[in-house]
Amino acid sequence: MFVHNFFMVILSLSATVASPSGPIQTFKLNDGREMPRFGLGTWLGFISTVRTNKSEEVENAVKWAIDAGYRHIDTASIYDTEDQVGNAINKKIAEGVVKREDLFVTTKLWNDAHGRYRVLPALENSLKKLNLDYVDMYLIHWPIAQYLNGTFYDVDYLETWEAMIAMQKKGLAKSIGVSNFNKAMLERLISKSTVKPANLQVEINLNLQQPELIEFCKQQNIVVTGYTPFGSLFPNRARSDAPPPRADDPALIDIANKYNKTVPQIALRYLVELNIVPIPKTVTKSRVEQNIDIFDFKLTQEERNLLKSYDKNYRTIEPKMWEDSPYYPF
Ligand SMILES: NC(=O)c1ccc[n+]([C@@H]2O[C@H](COP(=O)([O-])OP(=O)(O)OC[C@H]3O[C@@H](n4cnc5c(N)ncnc54)[C@H](OP(=O)(O)O)[C@@H]3O)[C@@H](O)[C@H]2O)c1
Repeated sequence: MFVHNFFMVILSLSATVASPSGPIQTFKLNDGREMPRFGLGTWLGFISTVRTNKSEEVENAVKWAIDAGYRHIDTASIYDTEDQVGNAINKKIAEGVVKREDLFVTTKLWNDAHGRYRVLPALENSLKKLNLDYVDMYLIHWPIAQYLNGTFYDVDYLETWEAMIAMQKKGLAKSIGVSNFNKAMLERLISKSTVKPANLQVEINLNLQQPELIEFCKQQNIVVTGYTPFGSLFPNRARSDAPPPRADDPALIDIANKYNKTVPQIALRYLVELNIVPIPKTVTKSRVEQNIDIFDFKLTQEERNLLKSYDKNYRTIEPKMWEDSPYYPF
């Protein structure tokens, strides 16, 4: 069984992208396309007031990321960063650093655009902001349909999924998938639709490892992207009830020192070894470069066991205000 799984993983990996930090391998998606197994997140967090925006922090981060060898960028219409992501990508293409086909760009359909007729205009709007002809991955961000004022409207995600399939047929999204769907929702989607999602994006970090969901996706040949990969590692982001560890945990520091790495790099490396695609966000140049520099060492089984022990099924992203939706996933 172990040998079989090991070879399945090896078979589904192929090195394609040469970068200053070494080649970033890809996972083969169930639709035949390839997804780089590491990416950059671009969500700036909950910004309820008007963002002075149009600062260039995300644009700079994406440019540094491309220079450092990232080939996979994650954004979403709700993040309000698609324009900056697009600026960075188009500038790097114009400079001759990369070609469009070298890059894997993910964006997401927001909750207010569920339903048969809303998906095309939403994707067209995202593509306009990105200034791209297509995205590599288009995800349903949440299974929940909501008006912008927050009230729910009654659209089954199955209907929205049919519209996503139409986007793929049009070539506007090369691959399609879902985010924040639970196992039962995935099973329902798979059993009722002709097209299986190629990708599931969910929260995965030391405190929330979701082994059952990951195993199900592996059986279904669905690649899993791990969002908020640092979870509660950094004290400034951890809620008071968040379980350990923090970045100053002595056991984690020992492991990091052993490999001449940092604790955040150990947390990311662990996800990579679980065959998760981490998409850490940072707008700090040194961290952009540090986070991807995790492909030159391997954790021991003992170290993986310790990291596994931090799994407490604890979510950092838990939108309880949506609990009344019939499609609330958690
Ligand atoms: N599908 C969904 O519903 C969903 C939900 C949440 C997130 N996401 C995606 O996943 C991405 C990542 O998740 P996230 O942004 O929630 O959190 P995250 O990547 O786990 O953490 C981001 C935070 O970590 C800091 N950081 C990054 N690298 C660091 C390092 N090496 N050392 C110290 N601090 C470091 C960043 O600071 P600085 O930026 O200041 O450097 C930032 O405050 C998002 O950006 C988004 O693209 C998707």
